[in-house]
Amino acid sequence: MYHKLLQDKKNLPQLLKEVASTSEQIIRGQATYPAAQSGKYPHINTDLSESGMGTKAVCEKFLTSYAPYLSGSAGPEYFGFVTGGSTPAALVGDWLTSVFDQNVMGSSESIASSFEVATIKLLRGLFSLPEEFNGSFVSGATMSNFVGLATGRQWIGQLKNVNIAEAGLHAIGDIKVFSATPHSSIYKSLAMAGMGRNALIRVDTLPQREAMDVGKLADLLKRHEQQSGASPCIIVANAGTVNTVDFDDLEAIVQLKKHYQFWLHVDAAFGGFARCSSKYQPLVKGLEFADSITIDAHKWLNVPYDSAMQFTRELTLQSEVFQNNASYLRADITANNFINLTPENSRRFRALPAWFTLMAYGKKGYEEMVERACELALFLGHKLEQNSHFKLLSPVRMNGICFTVLIKGQIASEKQIKVFLEKVIATGVLFLSPTLYKNQPALRISISNWQTEKKHIEKCWKCLLEAATLLKN
Ligand SMILES: Cc1ncc(COP(=O)(O)O)c(C=O)c1O
Repeated sequence: MYHKLLQDKKNLPQLLKEVASTSEQIIRGQATYPAAQSGKYPHINTDLSESGMGTKAVCEKFLTSYAPYLSGSAGPEYFGFVTGGSTPAALVGDWLTSVFDQNVMGSSESIASSFEVATIKLLRGLFSLPEEFNGSFVSGATMSNFVGLATGRQWIGQLKNVNIAEAGLHAIGDIKVFSATPHSSIYKSLAMAGMGRNALIRVDTLPQREAMDVGKLADLLKRHEQQSGASPCIIVANAGTVNTVDFDDLEAIVQLKKHYQFWLHVDAAFGGFARCSSKYQPLVKGLEFADSITIDAHKWLNVPYDSAMQFTRELTLQSEVFQNNASYLRADITANNFINLTPENSRRFRALPAWFTLMAYGKKGYEEMVERACELALFLGHKLEQNSHFKLLSPVRMNGICFTVLIKGQIASEKQIKVFLEKVIATGVLFLSPTLYKNQPALRISISNWQTEKKHIEKCWKCLLEAATLLKN
């Protein structure tokens, strides 16, 4: 064995102890770590040395030269995109995932695949989904959306007696997809699934909302029926839009199934967590009637990247799409034969951190986490609404706030929002994302980290106010 590798093998217990101690320091300091960095970074060494440095030296190099430039995205003051952290239990589970390094393809040589099925069952309980739903872990909501849409595509083929996974999409032609405010990953998924970005037909939203006008959807479906001779289609409903956290009326959409044939995919990447709380559950009534569902784990479940769940009822169709036949692999269609159910073949044991956190904190833990984040969003939303520097662009429905900056009573331009954001980021106190909402330059804050408390929001508010004052001068 190469001597540096041998030396590391001998020193592994000591190396792990040191990493554990460093990790502890990083985690303790998470609230003081800059939420985001300035964008000016040192050169990263790309010289592949002849003999290597050994792990201890590499670790020291990384921690001193580069780690200080990472963002505090795992901490309580990072409000950009929709970003969760990692609960203590999830972190421990994730470490052990690497230690055991299982390949969860569905092979029966270990308990890992059954573990994933069991974790999906726990999640079904958390989200009150019926037993007919099977599920699996994928790398994120984008991949989960892809699985849902590709399975919907296969269902449409089945109705037309065509196995699209075998014959290709050209065998049936276009598939139409209807959605009001789809996440950008829906377009990406349509491109990957061969249906194409142009397959998506935007449905009007309700006035001043991102939620679908279901009456307008019914009109579009009627027209589609007349034009296509009742060709089945796909509807992508949203449970939690990324700008204003708005929810389509899933029950009303489901009612349309009485008249039209469609596959209902619900992107509930983070909005699905409303099902953890009786207060917010009404926002996602009807989720249980979907054909496929996306819910992210690296958002509000607070497990480390990368992790999401896909849920569907159609195991056979799903395995027609994702089957990976080889003489040395299982071919049966069962909920734990993951190699035939997801885009990947070799797969990380993503279920383990999720299982750890679900077992450690239970339903109450997640109810509290969800309700606390929503209360904090309401608290900050109220402050923004009451202050003349800001304008709330949408009511706070859950954990997200969409607002803009006012300069002399006028909505700031995109350029001014950029300057405002630079001032905020320069403080190192918090991070938030710029956006456009109904063509207005805007900002969005999403609270999804288990560690965020009122003191962090108060600090964030102070910082926003200071940046707005500076912008005026
Ligand atoms: C509603 C929604 N769908 C899909 C995604 C894509 O998620 P991921 O980055 O996990 O692929 C996001 C990410 O924020 C989202 O908010």
